[in-house]
Amino acid sequence: MVSRIRSEVGWGKEFFTFLREVDSGKIVAGDGVSVQDSGPMSSHPLIIAIDGPAASGKSTVAKRVARELEIVFVSSGAMYRAFTWWILENGVDPEKTNAVVSLLGETGFVCGEEDAMGTISIGGRRLTSAEMSAEAVNSNVSVIAAIPEVRSRLVSEQRAYARENGVVMEGRDIGSVVFPETPHKFYIDASPEVREQRRRAEGIRDSIAARDRIDSSRKASPLVIPDDATVVDSSFLSVEEVVDRVVSAVRGQ
Ligand code: CDP
Repeated sequence: MVSRIRSEVGWGKEFFTFLREVDSGKIVAGDGVSVQDSGPMSSHPLIIAIDGPAASGKSTVAKRVARELEIVFVSSGAMYRAFTWWILENGVDPEKTNAVVSLLGETGFVCGEEDAMGTISIGGRRLTSAEMSAEAVNSNVSVIAAIPEVRSRLVSEQRAYARENGVVMEGRDIGSVVFPETPHKFYIDASPEVREQRRRAEGIRDSIAARDRIDSSRKASPLVIPDDATVVDSSFLSVEEVVDRVVSAVRGQ
C-alpha cells in the first residue's frame, strides 16, 4: 500500500488541507526511474528538507515532523548506506571508483513506503537498520557518497519519489541540491561533543568527525547551510522543542 499525499492548495499556510490518496499501487524507482500508477500528479507536493551533520538529531526530528504533518519520512542517508552495504556485499573496494560506478549501473533500487516511512530495497534485498548502521557501512559511506555518479543517481531516485509523495526528507544536500525550490528548509545542528555523545548513547561505533570532514569538504554537493534555511541548534533543546520549531515554521506561525 502506498499513501500518496498531496496538497490541494500548494505550499503556504493552508497546506494542511491534504488530499490523502491510498492506492494499491507500488512506486518503483529502479534503473531509468519508472513510477507505476502515478495517477493525477500534484503540482506542489509538500516537501520539507532537513539537513545537518551526523548525529545532529535530524533523523529523529524529521520522523516526528512527518508524523505530526501526516506525510512520509524519507532518509536519503539510508539510500547512501544501502548502496554502501551493497558495494561491500559484492566485494567491491569503495576506493575503486570505476568499479563502484560500474556496479551502480547494474543496481536497482526500490523505494517504497510502509507505515509512513520510506523504505529501500537494493538488489532485491530489503535491508535492516542493523545492516545499514554496521561499522563497515559507517566507515565507508562518506567515500561512496562523494562520488558524483552515485549522487546524481540517488538524487534522481529522491526526486522521483517526492514527485508523488509529500515528504519530509533528511540528509546533507536536500535543501541545497535535491529540492532547492522548497521554501521549507531546515538545518539541524549540534555541537561536536553533543553529537559524539548521542551516537555513543545509541551504542553505535561511528566515526562521525571523519564523516563530517569528508561530507563538508567534498566537491560534489558538500554539506552546506542553504541561505534560506532555518537553522536550529539542538544541543540544548529537547526533541519536542526542535519539532515544535520546525512545525511552527512550516505552518508560518
Ligand atoms: O544519520 P547520520 O547523520 O549519521 O547519517 P545519514 O543521514 O544516515 O548519512 C550517512 C552518510 O550518507 C553521510 O555521512 C553522507 O556521507 C551520506 N549522505 C549524503 O552524502 N547525502 C545525503 N543527502 C545523505 C547522506
